Amino acid sequence: MRKGQLLLLLLLFAAGSTTASAKTDPQDEAALRSLMKRWKNVPASWGKSSPCDMPWDGILCDENGRVTSLNLFGMGMGGTLSDDIGSLTELTILDLSSNRDLGGPLPAAIGKLFKLESFFSGPVPSELGNLSQLTFFALNSNKLTGSIPPSLGKLSNVTWLDLADNQLTGPLPTSRDNRTGLDQLLNAQHFHFNRNMLEGSIPDSLFSSSMHLKHILFDLNRFTGQIPASIGAIPSLTVLRLNNNGFMGPVPALNNLTNLQVLMLSNNKLSGPIPNLTGMGSLENVDISNNSFDPSNVPSWFSDLKSIMTLTMQSVGLSGQLPQKLFSFPQLQHLVLSDNELNGTLDMGNNMSKHLDLVDIQNNKITSVTVYNSFKNLKLEGNPLCNDSLLSDTSPCMGLQTEAPPQPYQFDVQCAYPFIETIVFRAPSFANVFEYLPELQKNLSKQLNSCTPNWLGLVPYFDEDAYLNVNIKACPVKQKRFNYSQVLNCFNLTRQTYKPPEMYGPYYVNAHPYAFHDKTSRAVLIGIVTGSVLLVVGLTLVVFYAVNQKKRAQRLVSINNPFASWGSLGEDIGAAPQLKSAKFFSLEELKLCTNDFREINAIGAGGYGTVYRGKLPDGQLVAIKRSKEGSMQGGLEFKTEIELLSRVHHNNLVGLVGFCFEKGEKMLVYEFIPNGTLSEALYGMKGIQLDWSRRLKIALDSAKGLAYLHDHANPPIIHRDVKSTNILLNEKMTAKVSDFGLSLLVTDSEEGQLCTNVKGTLGYLDPEYYMTQQLTAKSDVYSFGVVLLELIVGKPPIHNNKYIVREVKMALDEDDGTHYGLKDVMDPVLQKIGGLFGFPRFLKLALQCVEEVATARPSMNSIVREIEAIMLDNGLTPGSMSTSSSFSIESRTMKVGPKHPYSSSSMSTSTFDMDSRAFEYSGVFPSSHGSLKP
Ligand SMILES: *[C@@H]1O[C@H](CO)[C@@H](O)[C@H](O)[C@H]1NC(C)=O
Ligand SMILES: *[C@@H]1O[C@H](CO)[C@@H](O)[C@H](O)[C@H]1NC(C)=O
Ligand SMILES: *[C@@H]1O[C@H](CO)[C@@H](O)[C@H](O)[C@H]1NC(C)=O
Ligand SMILES: *[C@@H]1O[C@H](CO)[C@@H](O)[C@H](O)[C@H]1NC(C)=O
Ligand SMILES: *[C@@H]1O[C@H](CO)[C@@H](O)[C@H](O)[C@H]1NC(C)=O
Ligand SMILES: *[C@@H]1O[C@H](CO)[C@@H](O)[C@H](O)[C@H]1NC(C)=O
Repeated sequence: MRKGQLLLLLLLFAAGSTTASAKTDPQDEAALRSLMKRWKNVPASWGKSSPCDMPWDGILCDENGRVTSLNLFGMGMGGTLSDDIGSLTELTILDLSSNRDLGGPLPAAIGKLFKLESFFSGPVPSELGNLSQLTFFALNSNKLTGSIPPSLGKLSNVTWLDLADNQLTGPLPTSRDNRTGLDQLLNAQHFHFNRNMLEGSIPDSLFSSSMHLKHILFDLNRFTGQIPASIGAIPSLTVLRLNNNGFMGPVPALNNLTNLQVLMLSNNKLSGPIPNLTGMGSLENVDISNNSFDPSNVPSWFSDLKSIMTLTMQSVGLSGQLPQKLFSFPQLQHLVLSDNELNGTLDMGNNMSKHLDLVDIQNNKITSVTVYNSFKNLKLEGNPLCNDSLLSDTSPCMGLQTEAPPQPYQFDVQCAYPFIETIVFRAPSFANVFEYLPELQKNLSKQLNSCTPNWLGLVPYFDEDAYLNVNIKACPVKQKRFNYSQVLNCFNLTRQTYKPPEMYGPYYVNAHPYAFHDKTSRAVLIGIVTGSVLLVVGLTLVVFYAVNQKKRAQRLVSINNPFASWGSLGEDIGAAPQLKSAKFFSLEELKLCTNDFREINAIGAGGYGTVYRGKLPDGQLVAIKRSKEGSMQGGLEFKTEIELLSRVHHNNLVGLVGFCFEKGEKMLVYEFIPNGTLSEALYGMKGIQLDWSRRLKIALDSAKGLAYLHDHANPPIIHRDVKSTNILLNEKMTAKVSDFGLSLLVTDSEEGQLCTNVKGTLGYLDPEYYMTQQLTAKSDVYSFGVVLLELIVGKPPIHNNKYIVREVKMALDEDDGTHYGLKDVMDPVLQKIGGLFGFPRFLKLALQCVEEVATARPSMNSIVREIEAIMLDNGLTPGSMSTSSSFSIESRTMKVGPKHPYSSSSMSTSTFDMDSRAFEYSGVFPSSHGSLKP
C-alpha cells in the first residue's frame, strides 16, 4: 500500500521561543528520540547532542528546555508519526509537510496538543476539534479518508481550513444537522475542500452574512442539489469555485458579492437563466461553461466586467451579437465563447485589450468579421463565415494558432543541485501566465533573496484542473548544495506568510525530494539493515506462499482441473500452463462478479470477444476478457498469454489477476485500469487534457514497461503490438502497457531474432520487420516511436490519409527554434497549455525510434534514461510525479465526463481495445511506408 504524503503543519504562538541552549526537558528529549527512531532521513544533526543544546535542525526550544517548534518541511523523511508527538505539550509549530514517505494514520494523541494554534496532516481524528486555539489548520494533499468530523466546528478561532486533495467523503457537517458544524467557524476566511469525494447537498445554513469567508473552494467533488442562496450573502468572498460537481437548479443571486474575483461554476448540471453578474465589477476570472442554462441573449452585464481577465462560457446557449466593449476591458486575456449561438458580425473594435491572447468563438453562427488585423489568435472554425471561400483557408477558420506561445525558459536557471518546490495556485485570475510571471519572479526573489540571490528559476504550467503550477528552482550560491537549515529557513512557504501578487489567488506548496548529501555511506548502511529485515520477511512469505500454492493446486486438481481440458479443442498444446501468482477462477465465480455477463457490464468488444468489468468478492475491480467461441485466439495463444502475463510483474504493465478455462470458455482476468487508454485521453474522448509534463510521464511509464519486457523478463518478451490503445492509464495517470496476446517468447534464436508471420497494427508497424519478417525488440521501439509522435501530434498515426511519421519528418524544420516546424502538426492542446520544456530532445528521441534501420534505433532502456534525463533537467522528478500532490491526478480531475472513476459511464469508455489488434500482412500496407526512405 502506498503511503500517503503527509503534510503536517501545526502553528502555535512562537512567542518566547528562542534557541537558548537550555538543558532539554527529559520528557521532550525522550519523545523526540522515539520519533527519530521511526523516521528515516532525519537531518544529519539529529541525535548528535541533546535536542536543545546544539539545536537539532528544525527544532526550537524555550528557556525551560521545552521543544516549541518542530519544522521539518521538505527534509525527504519517511516513516510514521506515533503518540509520542502528544508528549511535546509545549509544541507550537509542527510542520512535516513535503516529506513524501512520511505517512500512516494521524495519531489521536495529536488532539492533546492543546496549545497548538495550527496544524497540518494523516484520517481526520475528531479529537482535532479540541484544539480550540488553532487558527491555521491545513491537512491538504494527504490521503485522508472518511468524512469531515463535525467537531471541527469547535475550532472557533480557525481562519484557514484546508482539507483539499484528499479522499474525503460524506456531507459537510453543520450545527443544524449535527451538533457542531462548519457554519460555526465565523472567523474562517478559507474553506479549501477541493479535490475530494465530498457529496450531498450543501445546506443553506452552512453560510451566513456574519461569516468572513474569502475563499470557497469546493471544486472537483461530488456535491449535488442547489447552490445555497446564503452563499450570495457573504460580502467578503473573493474566490468561489464550485466547478466539476453535480450542482443543479438555478444559480442564486450573487450580485452582492461585489468583491468576488473568481467565479467558477463550470461542469455542473445547473439550469434556469444564466447567472446575472450585474454590478460584479471585481470579477477577473469567470467560467460557467457546460451547464444546462436556458438559452439567452448576450447579457447586458458583459459591459460591467471591467476587471475581467478570463471569461469562459462554452456551451451555455448564448445568442445575439457580442458587444465591442467586451474586447476593450484592459486586462482581458482569454475569451472563450465556443459552442453557442452567437450571430451577426464579430467586431472586436480597434481598442482591444493589449493583453488579449485568445478569442475562441468556434461553433457559433457568426456570419462576418470586421477587425482582427493585429490579432492572430482568433478561432472561428464552425461558423457560417468559414464556408465563405475567401475566409475558409485563413487561420481563424482552420483552427491554427499563428502567434508564438511565450518561451517557457525565460526564468530558468541551471545548477547541479537545485532545490525545487512547486507552488500550486488554485484559482488564478489569468489564463496567460507569462504576462504575470515577472511579477511573481520579483516578489519571490524578494522573499528568497537571502538564500538564492538572482538564482531563481520559475517554470509554470496549468494542470488539468486549471490550477496553475509553478516550479520554483533555486540554485545555491558559492556552495554545491543547500544544507538542511537553509532549506528549512528559506523555502518554507507552507505557512501562508508569503503573499504572492493578488491575481495568483490561494496557493499551497510542495517541495521535491532534495539530495542533501551523496547517496553513499548512510544510504548503504540503511540498505543493508532494511535488506536483512526484508530477507527474513521474504523467506517467511515464500514458505507461506509455497504451502498455500500447494494447497490451492491440490484443490484445483481435485475440484476442477482446468488444465486437463487444454487439449480438448483438438490442438496439441502440450503441458499445463506454467503460472506464477495468477489465480484460477471458476466460470461460476466470474458469472457472479459480472452479474452473469450482463450487457451493462461490458466495457469493450473486439475481434475475439467482449471485455466485462467485474468486482471480485474482496472488492477488487477487474476487467474480464471473455473470448467468444471460435474466436481467433485459440487455446495455444490463450495459454501463451496467461503464461506470459502471470510471469511479468511491473508497475507499468497491466497485471494478470487470473484466468478461467472451463466449459469451452476462455477468460483472462486483469486488474482494472480506470482511466481508459492513452488514445482516448489523447483524442479527448475522456475529457482529459494531457499537459506536456503528463505526456512525458506517460512516455516514461510505458517505456519502462516495455524495457522491462525486453530486458528483465526471462525469457525476454517482444510485445509486437505497441500502440496507444494498448497503453492504459490508471487513476493516478500512471501508464500501463497491456495486451500481450501477440507477444512471442524470444527463446531459442541465436541472434535474438525470430522469423514469423508479420503481425501488428497498421500505422505502428516497423517497416524493416514488415520487409524482412525479422522480429527484434527494435520493432517495438519503432512502434513506441510512433506513440511518442502521437503524444506530440495528438492524432492517430494514420489520419486524413496522412502517416504520422512522414507528416512529422516532412514538417521538420530545425531552424525553427521553438517548434522545429511542427507548429501546424502539433496537438493544439499542447500549444494552448504551453510549457513544452525539453521538446527538442523529446522530438529527437521520437525520430530516432522511427529510424528506418532498426540498428539506428535506441534500446528501450536508453529511451527510459533519456526521458528521465529530459524530465530531471526540467525540474520534474520522474519517479514521483504521481505521488506528489502537485502532479497527482485523480480520475475526478477530468474537466468533463464522469466524475466517479468506477461509475458505469466511465467503465463503458475504458476499454481493453481488441479491435484492430491483429493486422496480418496480406499485401496491404499503408502507401506511406515508401516515404520512410530518405
Ligand atoms: C480566540 O481568539 C481570541 C482573540 O485572540 C482569544 O481571546 C480567545 O481566547 C481565543 N479562543 C480560544 C478558544 O482560544
Ligand atoms: C451530520 O448530519 C447529516 C445529515 O443529518 C448526516 O448525514 C451525517 O451523517 C452527520 N454526520 C455525522 C458525523 O454525524
Ligand atoms: C444584497 O444586499 C442588499 C442590501 O444590503 C439586501 O437587501 C439583499 O437582501 C441582499 N441580497 C442577498 C441575496 O443577500
Ligand atoms: C440582473 O440584476 C440586476 C441588479 O440586481 C437587475 O437590475 C437586472 O434586471 C437583472 N437582470 C436580469 C436579466 O435579470
Ligand atoms: C441573431 O439572433 C437573434 C436571436 O437569436 C435574432 O433576433 C437576430 O435577428 C439575429 N441577428 C442576425 C444578424 O442574424
Ligand atoms: C521559515 O521558517 C523560519 C523559522 O523556522 C521563519 O523565521 C521564516 O519566517 C519562515 N519563512 C516563511 C516564508 O514563513
